[in-house]
Amino acid sequence: LITPVLLCGGSGTRLWPLSRKSYPKQFAALLGDETLFQASARRLNGPQYGAPVVVTASDFRFIVTEQLHSVGIDPGAILIEPTGRNTAPAVLAAALHVAQSDPDGLMLVAPSDHVIPDVAAFGAAVAAGVAAAEAGQLVTFGITPTHAETGYGYLELVGTREGTAPAPLKRFVEKPDAARAEIMFKDPHFMWNAGIFLFRARDIIAAFKTHAQALLEPVSSAYTKAQADLGFLRLDPEHWALAEDISIDYAVMEKADNLSVVPFSAGWSDLGGWDAVWAETGPDGDGVATSDNATAIECRDTLLRSESAGLEVVGIGLENTIVVAMPDAVLVADKSRAQDVKLAVAALKAKS
Ligand code: GDD
Ligand code: MG
Repeated sequence: LITPVLLCGGSGTRLWPLSRKSYPKQFAALLGDETLFQASARRLNGPQYGAPVVVTASDFRFIVTEQLHSVGIDPGAILIEPTGRNTAPAVLAAALHVAQSDPDGLMLVAPSDHVIPDVAAFGAAVAAGVAAAEAGQLVTFGITPTHAETGYGYLELVGTREGTAPAPLKRFVEKPDAARAEIMFKDPHFMWNAGIFLFRARDIIAAFKTHAQALLEPVSSAYTKAQADLGFLRLDPEHWALAEDISIDYAVMEKADNLSVVPFSAGWSDLGGWDAVWAETGPDGDGVATSDNATAIECRDTLLRSESAGLEVVGIGLENTIVVAMPDAVLVADKSRAQDVKLAVAALKAKS
C-alpha cells in the first residue's frame, strides 16, 4: 500500500482575504462544500492507499483532525512541526516515519491545496508510477505547460512531452526566472512539475543523505525525540530549529539523477490565485462566476464571491474584476492583477 503524505503547512497569501495565516486556503471551502484539504485526502483514499500521514503546524492540528473526521478518514499519523521549515524537512520527517515500519514503503507526497477533478485518472497515474518507484526512482508528475510560469518547477524529459508513459527525466529546474521559463515553455522537452512525488521511503532518505546531508541530523533527532501528544506526534523543537528552511525541490529534486515523470493530462490546478479560482469555478457564457449571495448584473469575465451568508454582494457592469467579500475584509481587484494580491497582504502587514 502507498502511504499518502499530505503537506499542509503553507499559507497561500495570493488568495487573501479568504486565505489567512490562521486559516490558510487548503482548509477553506474554495470550490464546492469540501475544503481543498478534504478533497486531497479523499483523492488519496482508496484500495491502493494506506492511512495518510499529515505534516502540519501546531496551529492547524485540530482543523486537520476535524476535517479528516468529517470525511470519514482516519490518519495514520499527524506530525506537528514546531515551526515551518518548508517542505524538505517535512518530507524527510514523514519518510523517517514511514521507514520505521517499512523502509521499502511507497509514499505519495502531495500538497493539500491543489485541484485535480478526475480522481480516477489521478489514481491511474499514481499506479503507473509504482514500477519506477519500486525500481528506486523518485517519481514526479508532469503537466503540459500552458504559459511561461515562473512559480513552478520544470521537468526536462529525455523525450518530448507528447509521450504519455512514465519516462526518465534529465533534470529538474525549480522556479526559473522569466527568460528561462519562456525558453522551457516553448521547448517540447519540458513539463511543469505538479508538486506531487512518489518514492520509497528509503530512496528519498538516501537522496537526502546524498544531496542534503545537513538536514539529516536535525530532522532525525527531531523525529526520534518527538513527543506523542493526544494522537499527534510533536517533532522536537530544539532539533527542528536546526533544520534548514528549504523546499524539497531545491534540496533534493534539482540535484537528484534518479528522477522519472508520469505525464498527467486530466486536469490539474494549484489554485495559485483568484484568476485560477475563477477558471475552476466554471464561469458562465459571459465569463461570470458567482457564489451564493452574490449577484452579477451585466458583468463580464468577473468573479463575485460572498464568503458570508449574511452578506449580499452585487456587481453591475463589471469587467475583468475580482470581488471577494469576507465579514472583515473585501478584495476588489482587476483580474489581470490577481497575482498582486500578495501585495495586499504585505501592505496590511506593514500597516499593523
Ligand atoms: N507541512 C508543511 N510544512 N507543509 C508545507 C510547508 C511546511 O513548512 N511549506 C509548504 N508546505 C505545503 C504547502 O501547504 C503546499 O501544500 C505544499 O507544501 C507545496 O508548497 P508550496 O509552498 O505551495 O510550493 P510551491 O507551490 O511554491 O512549489 C511547489 O509546487 C509547484 C506546483 O504547485 C514545487 O514543487 C514546484 O516545483 C511545483 O511546480
Ligand atoms: Mg503551491
